[in-house]
Amino acid sequence: MNEMNTIDEVIVGRRSVFPQHYTGERVDDAIVRKMLANANWAPTHKFTEPWRFVVFTGEGLKRLAQQQADVYKKVTSANGTFKEERYQNLLKKPMQSSHIIAVGMKRDEKKSLPEVEEIGAVFCAIQNMHLTASAYGVGAYLSTGGITYFEEAKEIFGLEKDDKLLGFFNIGMPTNVALTGRRKPIEEKITWVDH
Ligand SMILES: Cc1cc2nc3c(=O)[nH]c(=O)nc-3n(C[C@H](O)[C@H](O)[C@H](O)COP(=O)(O)O)c2cc1C
Repeated sequence: MNEMNTIDEVIVGRRSVFPQHYTGERVDDAIVRKMLANANWAPTHKFTEPWRFVVFTGEGLKRLAQQQADVYKKVTSANGTFKEERYQNLLKKPMQSSHIIAVGMKRDEKKSLPEVEEIGAVFCAIQNMHLTASAYGVGAYLSTGGITYFEEAKEIFGLEKDDKLLGFFNIGMPTNVALTGRRKPIEEKITWVDH
């Protein structure tokens, strides 16, 4: 197989693998470090390198579970939207993953770029992590649920007012379930201008 076939296969074959399809086995930290190292090679306008990661694993997952459930309870009790089932889910879910990486966007002090570019760069970093996971046979998916968009959650992950929490990248060894991808044809989304 030549390298071009390899990159096509990794890109097309990458799937979001959800925790119900994780074996419970711990992913080798060396692979997670490789994913993070590749994330660091995302494109970055003006070299602001805005991606930030907090990696939770082992007992750290319990800490994440408690912290996210606490924030959820505090915020939703104050605004009247608290739901016990959601709270319990936040307390339990992290332990289904081997590692969870909280992904943040750190705004540079000078705010030298439009925010959308910084967010875009972080999502490129996430895709690098996801492709690396797939290439190493590791399951992963990005979650933007739970407390992702709670202002009050930022400080847990070392993020400040102008920064953003962008989601939680869940990682686990995949069961051998067959996951099929689906996309509408690319032709529907392209306009060629050639004359
Ligand atoms: C920005 C973004 C946020 C996402 N958030 C969630 C989420 O909160 N929950 C979820 O189940 N999947 C989430 N996903 C994963 C999508 O569900 C997944 O990419 C989609 O089903 C296509 O599957 P594939 O990644 O296997 O091609 C998110 C994906 C992206 C790009």
